[in-house]
Amino acid sequence: MTIQTKRPLGLIAATALFTAFTAAGALADSAGATFSDGEKFSQKTGEALYSNLCQACHMNEGQGAVGAGHYPALAKNENLESSGYPVYIVLHGQKGMPPVGEMMSDEQVAAVVNYVRTHFGNDYKDEVTVEDVAGAR
Ligand code: HEC
Repeated sequence: MTIQTKRPLGLIAATALFTAFTAAGALADSAGATFSDGEKFSQKTGEALYSNLCQACHMNEGQGAVGAGHYPALAKNENLESSGYPVYIVLHGQKGMPPVGEMMSDEQVAAVVNYVRTHFGNDYKDEVTVEDVAGAR
């Protein structure tokens, strides 16, 4: 009788790949995200994007959360005054914040940034344009 001690390498690679996919799926699920073509979010308005995506971490009133992680409040957040900052964070991510803008068009990034900058007690009237987003990618 032969006892097989080593797993075939291919199986290990396949398992690792599967784990990676599952993790990506779990993130999308927890954010309640719906994809249109497998790599982009389908929502068009800032409000819809916020509630399907950002709200999972930043909460429904933008109040943020502290628990398993620290999710800063976007409500009454002076860091949003300079419009380039939220555009940059959404596009490139930062620590626990994933670069969700990679899965969004320039129009969507502008829409969701303009939404958070004019809601939740924020009142920054200078709108982010599609060109601003394209330039920050
Ligand atoms: C998976 C959780 C998660 C999602 C989804 C998420 N964020 Fe974040 N966000 C974070 C975390 C964590 C931080 C803090 C990053 C750090 O420590 O620097 C953060 C930071 C930010 C900041 C900087 C706040 C500050 O005061 O410096 C902005 C702006 C922001 N997020 C906007 C958004 C927007 C807009 C969306 C949706 C398009 C979004 N986030 C989706 C987790 C998330």
